[in-house]
Amino acid sequence: SAVEAIKAKGELVMYTNATFPPFEYLSDTSEAVGVDVDIAQAIADELGVELKVENVDFDSIVPSIQSGKGDIGAAGMTVTPERQKEVDFSDTYATSIQYIIVPEDVEVSKVEDLAGKAIGVQTGTTGDTLIAGEINGKEDEEGNKVEGVLQGTDAEEVQYKSALEATQDLLNGRIDAVVIDKMPAESIVAKNDGLKCVELVYADGSKTEESYGICVAKGSDLTEVVNKVIKDLQDSGKIDEFMVDHSNA
Ligand code: ARG
Repeated sequence: SAVEAIKAKGELVMYTNATFPPFEYLSDTSEAVGVDVDIAQAIADELGVELKVENVDFDSIVPSIQSGKGDIGAAGMTVTPERQKEVDFSDTYATSIQYIIVPEDVEVSKVEDLAGKAIGVQTGTTGDTLIAGEINGKEDEEGNKVEGVLQGTDAEEVQYKSALEATQDLLNGRIDAVVIDKMPAESIVAKNDGLKCVELVYADGSKTEESYGICVAKGSDLTEVVNKVIKDLQDSGKIDEFMVDHSNA
């Protein structure tokens, strides 16, 4: 079993992408820290092993868990049907929505206002999938082709390794907007003068709700341990404490 193997090697290996405050980011001493690292530490403690954190590109987390290189993927990762084909997810521990970051003087209140703009995203994220779908067309639940709201507007998607790098290009004027989850967006705006962020809503008022889970290899008995720890941390108010601890990230 996965749990026995982790206990035998004495180490729980967490894969993450530390560009996503407050869930994971680099400390002043370049150590990966954040809410997800605190949760992973609690899982390691429950198993009685050391925690090892591997900081990789976001889009290589799921493949690394699938191949068994890592034991858990914890990265503010949204549970999606596509990812559930590759890995199993724990119970969810946080919710989010997408946000749009723009220069302070730009009027953007809905996705449709991104028409004709260059939009930066982090490769492999739900924001990436959403913007690509609005520019190139998407599929509805039945698999029918649906037109995207930015299709035919000259809107362009630019992929980056992180939202932090996308933000540098936003500040340089190379792109017009960045789409990323709410809390990292708020952190980016708090740390960079001249930017603001708004909820990503559609003209019809709809928005994208997402829930974060920790991923493990398909069929792994680790899921039970992770779920137990998440429940304990929620019941004791610890997850809220972790959020407060990292609120200046
Ligand atoms: N919630 C989004 C997703 O699952 C973005 C996660 C990005 N996480 C990170 N650590 N960079 O796609």
